[in-house]
Amino acid sequence: MSQTPDKHDNTQQDCSVPNFSAQNSRNPDQENQEQIDFGFRQIPKQEKVKRVEDVFNSVAEKYDVMNDLMSFGIHRLWKKITIESSSVRKGQKVLDLAGGTGDLTAKFSNLVGDEGLVVLADINDAMLKMGRNKLRDKGLFKNIAYVQANAEALPFADNYFDCITISFGLRNVTDKAKALRSMWRVLKPGGRLLVLEFSKPEYKLLSKAYDLYSFTMLPLMGKLVVDDSDSYRYLAESIRMMPDQKRLKQMMEEAGFVDVSYHNMTGGIVALHTGFKF
Ligand SMILES: C[S@@+](CC[C@H](N)C(=O)[O-])C[C@H]1O[C@@H](n2cnc3c(N)ncnc32)[C@H](O)[C@@H]1O
Repeated sequence: MSQTPDKHDNTQQDCSVPNFSAQNSRNPDQENQEQIDFGFRQIPKQEKVKRVEDVFNSVAEKYDVMNDLMSFGIHRLWKKITIESSSVRKGQKVLDLAGGTGDLTAKFSNLVGDEGLVVLADINDAMLKMGRNKLRDKGLFKNIAYVQANAEALPFADNYFDCITISFGLRNVTDKAKALRSMWRVLKPGGRLLVLEFSKPEYKLLSKAYDLYSFTMLPLMGKLVVDDSDSYRYLAESIRMMPDQKRLKQMMEEAGFVDVSYHNMTGGIVALHTGFKF
């Protein structure tokens, strides 16, 4: 299933979930038995999308406030570096995948101008709505389209986007290899993928302090601000389960990306991976 987004049609119909079931050719019994991580727990693979959906439904309304609180505002710097590394120009087409409340979309919208297009795609309707309202309040709507989609089966034409970003989204995706292949398919030859994600701290002391902070403070802040400590415990656990810098680089290469490199930020707490399609 392929779809070319129409930037002038930002209505709810953009946000329908495409039916991807026909694309799943695996044996259903095998699929039902497969286990996957959800934070530190193992759950049946087919349950992960729903569990992740519950997390983001619960946190959507306070997502931006919590991001600032938990990262002391540093996520803005990580995102600024991502934008600067994108080399996006006027007239280009950008996919902000797992784009949530649209921080990157807002910046890209200004960069691509009226001739360009930014597609904010996310699997979660609540997050998309928060993003759309925020961007409209900023007066940004002319060159933005909203699409509800699973990163594993992107509903866009082959070779469509000049640049794809996925910021703090990949670790929530059930089948990361499949999602990376899907991104490769919809990226133009010469196009660039940027993966901004939590990663493995470079120094032992930093790692210990970070563990202490994330396993105590994050659930506590979640309890106080959103009345939901479990979602923020999942956040801390999912960060530890994310493939480290080298493994993610390898996964991007396996999906077909070339010239893959990464840049550690804040001592490797976060890494920005870049890859190209030839
Ligand atoms: C931590 S938020 C990141 C939002 C935004 N990119 C940012 O950096 O602030 C993760 C987002 O990934 C989305 N997500 C999770 N699984 C997804 C999937 N399989 N496909 C697309 N989006 C997904 C969630 O709905 C959520 O909006």
